[in-house]
Amino acid sequence: MTAILEQIKTKVTSALIKAFGEEMKAIDPLIAGTNNPKFGDYQSNVSMSLTKKLKKNPREIAQEIINNLDITDLCETPEIAGAGFINFKLKINYLETKLRTMQKDSRLGIEKVNQPQKIIVDFSSPNIAKEMHVGHLRSTIIGDSIARVLEFKGHQVLRLNHVGDWGTQFGMLITYLKEVYPSALTTADALDIGDLVTFYKQAKQRFDQDETFKETARQAVVKLQAGDEESLKAWQLLCQQSRREFQVIYNILDIHLNERGESFYNPFLPAVIAELESQNILQEDDGAKCVFLEGFTNKEGNPLPLIVQKTDGGYNYATTDLAALNYRIKEDQASRIIYVTDSGQSNHFAQVFQVAKKAHILPEKIEVTHVPFGLVKGEDGKKLKTRSGETIKLKDLLSEAIIYAQKDLETRLKNEERNETDDFIQNIAKTVGIGAVKYADLSQNRTTDYIFSYKKMLALQGNTAPYMLYAYVRVQGISRKGNIDFENLGENAKIILKEEQELILAKHLLQLEEIINEVEKDLFPNRLCNYLFELSQKFNIFFENCPVLQSEDTVKTSRLLLCDLTAKTLKLGLSLLGIPVLERM
Ligand code: ARG
Repeated sequence: MTAILEQIKTKVTSALIKAFGEEMKAIDPLIAGTNNPKFGDYQSNVSMSLTKKLKKNPREIAQEIINNLDITDLCETPEIAGAGFINFKLKINYLETKLRTMQKDSRLGIEKVNQPQKIIVDFSSPNIAKEMHVGHLRSTIIGDSIARVLEFKGHQVLRLNHVGDWGTQFGMLITYLKEVYPSALTTADALDIGDLVTFYKQAKQRFDQDETFKETARQAVVKLQAGDEESLKAWQLLCQQSRREFQVIYNILDIHLNERGESFYNPFLPAVIAELESQNILQEDDGAKCVFLEGFTNKEGNPLPLIVQKTDGGYNYATTDLAALNYRIKEDQASRIIYVTDSGQSNHFAQVFQVAKKAHILPEKIEVTHVPFGLVKGEDGKKLKTRSGETIKLKDLLSEAIIYAQKDLETRLKNEERNETDDFIQNIAKTVGIGAVKYADLSQNRTTDYIFSYKKMLALQGNTAPYMLYAYVRVQGISRKGNIDFENLGENAKIILKEEQELILAKHLLQLEEIINEVEKDLFPNRLCNYLFELSQKFNIFFENCPVLQSEDTVKTSRLLLCDLTAKTLKLGLSLLGIPVLERM
């Protein structure tokens, strides 16, 4: 089934062509949902945009469109309002049948795309030997949700973890560990990442202060990059150590990723430089090889260079991203590539994309997008820290969410005088706690900073995971209470829309596909969160005003179908955010 918005668009476009000729094919029919039932359900502004072109007044244009419009299956006869708006009101029996079809279908009537794309989502991407921080948490949560939406739409998605596993940090670390803890370089599991991070900090300090150490560390990098066996083994052990620790976080969050770190592209780096050279865009600046950029200038107004090979011959983050881009286009055959990192890296990506275009690594038809996000802040508005002022470990941050969720649950159970098993309590605490962390992140417009507050994200009221989960549980409660099997309400069971609250809920349910399509295109998961929040609110109003189990026959069946479709919509929507539902809580 095509989203209603798309159907109306197609119909208006054909009417435009019929009325005003083929050139109308290229015109956007400017249709959007209305928020005011006075204007119907959808509205088109296209008449106003065509006055100059057609040399007619907009109401006249609107009338001609309507005269040529074949839309009786979907809508009542469209009306012209104000200056020349066309208002569309969906037919009730269209709504009724469409919703019933959705309710019967496991994909809720949402079709996969006709032409699936190969899409790469580059997300999470922490750095080896350094701690995974809240920025990586955001990238992980947002990237996973984007990947889920694209997968649901039928695209072939490659989820790539571009871990920072190469570079000068290893020379430093290997040199330092050789001195203080040599067994870490030869034996597996000798360190855990907590130690590794401490060693990294100490090594960095030595590197900055001690010239001899610095030189030895440099040589160690050269040795590693030259493929020295002992160095490679040490490097692998260090990576393994970090990887294990990252996996703990991915398991808690239920995230699946393919690791393809920076080191993977190492063999391709010289070819990138050669390519830039052969395209005549490589220049030398202070001994470094670089490409001068358009639109990026220094304080004096001179163009900035993107360095791709340092004076000492070493490559950097940008070189690796150029090689990665080339590989992803040529070898992976991706036609859309999405990078999820904090907005601090916006310039980096704009620069890499610009150079890649110039070098013909990145053809016009490939869509590359940086998906930036803001910072996570503590409740004091400053950088998120522990009470004693240290940076928060992700593992602790997540376990604390679960602990808070458990406390809330236990208080509620006590108040309701309910007795539940430990398994039940732990399962709910985990789902609610982790769901709350994910939802709090995803429900924000990702480009803004957000404040991390356990209290807010775990609130049972408001735009939170617990509120949404609770709405779902409410429906399951109805089926338990009334002994109802939603899947067996009979082939002839129908949705009948009479009450205003039923209609409001029905029209909202119908918008799911449009919202998912928007996220597929614009990559803002908070739209889906807002949609689900409004859905829960509309459902609660419906539920308070329209008796379900106490109604008679056909009305009861119809309302049960609405309840079930609401629950299924919540379940699907939450699953696209990476949040599972609960049957009871
Ligand atoms: N490792 C980087 C960081 O922690 C993020 C990598 C993002 N992906 C990329 N292709 N540059 O900041």
